[in-house]
Amino acid sequence: MFTTTKKLLQLAEETNSAIAAFNCYNAETAQAAIQAGERANKGVIIAYGERYKDYMNLEAFAAFTKSLAEQASIPVALHLDHSYEISTIERAIASGFSSVMYDGSALSLEENVKTTKHVVEMAHAAGVFVEAEIGSMAKGDFSDEEEGDGKLTDPDEAISFVKETNVDFLAASIGTVHGMYKGEPKLDHQLLKTIAESIQIPLVLHGGSGTPEDQVLKAINLGIRKINVNTEVSLAAVTEIANQLNEQPQIHLSNLMTAAQDVMAEQMYQIIELYKNK
Ligand code: 13P
Repeated sequence: MFTTTKKLLQLAEETNSAIAAFNCYNAETAQAAIQAGERANKGVIIAYGERYKDYMNLEAFAAFTKSLAEQASIPVALHLDHSYEISTIERAIASGFSSVMYDGSALSLEENVKTTKHVVEMAHAAGVFVEAEIGSMAKGDFSDEEEGDGKLTDPDEAISFVKETNVDFLAASIGTVHGMYKGEPKLDHQLLKTIAESIQIPLVLHGGSGTPEDQVLKAINLGIRKINVNTEVSLAAVTEIANQLNEQPQIHLSNLMTAAQDVMAEQMYQIIELYKNK
């Protein structure tokens, strides 16, 4: 069934687990995420990033995903990931997304507060929840995201930001990167603990790919309720596509994409199982 991101994150809070938010931008990624969620019997978030709007039409993707969600045996939410333009957020709200992320992390704190506040008012009026980010994410290997400066979240800034903007979920920068890590991942769990103790809304971890399992579980135990994953699922799919093409250069496109979808679904299933934190 189609649900709200808030309900999924509440469920995660009750079970001390995290919900996987997979970046999806075509039929195969969305179908794989829902298949994986059904196999694991756990809700999932389909996270469509603004950067994919020229590749996959936003309104068509929303209609497609909602239709899949209605047919699914698990709760599925549709989230707009990293969005920098108000016009994209307006389109997502109008086409029924469950939640939107406004990413003002590159702006001054003052500007970020001002625009996030505006987004929250606009989204809440339509019953849509909002995620925002304080601090910024650095970029590792193979990521498709914007490069940030990697500034970790300042807990005091986070507290006043949440109070002033009335945002629903907060992405905190605690040392993960978008993409695969170039060296040893170093997550600042003490910082996460400080933030979690002073902020009551669900916390989000970006940069799930390549983060060691023990560090992920520690973050969940400290209060992370949503974890975003993009790069490692994409890598699994393109590796499979390369292997398939090597073996059968004339393979039918539908079979090639089905093979890619199957490996993504397997990878996503393992991730969902990990985030159950059992
Ligand atoms: P990864 O590509 O590191 O999994 O990060 C995804 C993400 O945080 C999208 O918002």
